[in-house]
Formats: sequence, structure tokens, C-alpha cells
Amino acid sequence: MTLPLQTIQQAQRQSPLPLLEQHMLWGHVLGVSRAWLIAHDRDPIAAADWQHYHDLQARRLEGTPMAYLLGWREFMGHRFEVGPGVLIPRPETEVLVTHVLQNVLPRFQHPRILDLGTGSGIVAISLALECPQATVVATDVCPTALSWAKKNARTLCGGNIDFLQGSWYDALSAQDTFDVIVSNPPYIAAADVHLAQGDLRAEPTQALTDGQDGLQFLQAIIAGAPQFLRSEGALWVEHGWNQHQAVRELMLKEGFSEVRSIHDLASIPRISGGTINL
Ligand SMILES: C[S@@+](CC[C@H](N)C(=O)[O-])C[C@H]1O[C@@H](n2cnc3c(N)ncnc32)[C@H](O)[C@@H]1O
Repeated sequence: MTLPLQTIQQAQRQSPLPLLEQHMLWGHVLGVSRAWLIAHDRDPIAAADWQHYHDLQARRLEGTPMAYLLGWREFMGHRFEVGPGVLIPRPETEVLVTHVLQNVLPRFQHPRILDLGTGSGIVAISLALECPQATVVATDVCPTALSWAKKNARTLCGGNIDFLQGSWYDALSAQDTFDVIVSNPPYIAAADVHLAQGDLRAEPTQALTDGQDGLQFLQAIIAGAPQFLRSEGALWVEHGWNQHQAVRELMLKEGFSEVRSIHDLASIPRISGGTINL
């Protein structure tokens, strides 16, 4: 293929991608910051770098998520490596982590935390980083997700998290107990049209939906929690914008108290939780 363009500025004039995505891809190809790109947009670009950029641009235009092209996504100020086979971290999950860090973990001196459905490990690793006195166990049913999580744990926090494979509580021994259980499970209903749009088309289906109404995994997590929580232990889950009432009802039915939901910056109830008194 002939590549007639010679500078980033010339490429920008012709690229169908939004400018921010162009900058992110060029930054990735050249290993430079956005500020450098703006200051050097008339510098000549080597042919190999052109080719690399054009390959990435073509994959982006075919629908590959930016996070998979770059190989990472930032979460709670840290760079988590991701790729095909694992969910891309979402900013709304920072509501879950921030709430647990600020309002739940301070109740415990040395909290033992369980993260169910850890994916790339963002929740477990962020909690371990911010609360070094905690011990953290993280589970996932998917071996590919667990390998990303272990890699991120090695890079970001020295790998002091126990990763276990299995379906929800099946990954644990029946005697295991925790002060705090957190989870961002697949909660999109199978019929939701968003599954066929944007980045979701490229992400693993089993990380997005329970294949039914979106509440099945939330229900399983809530129903199983009392067996694995210590007295005064807390469960906090992320859920969809319209699932807070159903989630709170499930928690009340299982004997949780202090059940409430927390809104994100757009006033959408994103997480719900409660405490168990045994
Ligand atoms: C919405 S993703 C969340 C990933 C990560 N915690 C995050 O917030 O980015 C849900 C995760 O649950 C995992 N999962 C799906 N079914 C599961 C099951 N039956 N048991 C355990 N984990 C499951 C998926 O593999 C996926 O990694």
C-alpha cells in the first residue's frame, strides 16, 4: 500500500477518526504524549510508524475498542492492561471502589475482602492498593480474565491478591468468610440493544449479560453472601441504571440491613449495598 502522507498534520486532515482517538493512536505508535504530538505535528513520520498507525486506524474503523488497540485503560489513576477476552474498565465502577474505600473499609481494622467477577482485576487491585492492611480474594469464572487480573496485580501491587477460578461462591471453600464482598457482575439484559453497539460488540458476552433479564447473577451474589460474610459484614454491588429497586428488595429479602443505593455524578443509582447482622 502506498502511503503518500508525510506528517501527522497531513494525516489528521484526512483521518475519519475523532481527533482525540487519532492522538491516542499516534501517541501509542510513537510513544509520545499528546502535548508532544501537538508541538511536533509537522515532523516527518517514518514509514514503519505510518504503517503501524494505518493498521490501528483500520482496526478502529472496523469497531475494535480503543482500549484493546492501546492495550490498557486507566482506572482510579492506574493503568490496567486489557485485551480481547476481558471487560474494559468503566468509569462508573469507580463509584463502587470509591464508596467502599471511603465508607465501608474504615469500619474494619484488617478487612478481608472478596471481589466476585474480577475481570481485569480493577476492583480488587484498587482496593488492595488503597487499603494495604486488607487481604483480598478475587474470583472469576473466565481463565482469560483471571490471567489479565494476575498480570495487572503483578505490575501494580506486587501480586498480593489471591485469584481463584470458579462460578461465584463455588470458587471458595465453604468455611471462607469476609468482612466485605464487592462485585460488578454482568447485569445487562440479554435483550438490551446496547449489546449490539459500540465497544460491547467486541467484549466477551459472559462479562456483560447473564443471558436473561440482567438480575440473575445479582440475585445469586446477594443470595449467597450471608453464608460468606462475617457479622457486620457488608455487600456492595454495581448494577444497571434501573435495577436499584430490585437489588435493594433482594438484599432486604436476604436479611441485609442499612440497605441503600449511591448515585453517580449524573444522579443515576449505580451501586447498592447493605450490612448483615448474624
Ligand atoms: C461486568 S464484568 C466486571 C469485571 C471487573 N470486575 C470490572 O469491573 O471491570 C463481570 C465479570 O464477571 C465474570 N463472570 C461472569 N459469570 C461469572 C460467574 N458465573 N462466576 C464468576 N464470574 C463470572 C466475567 O468473566 C467478568 O469478568
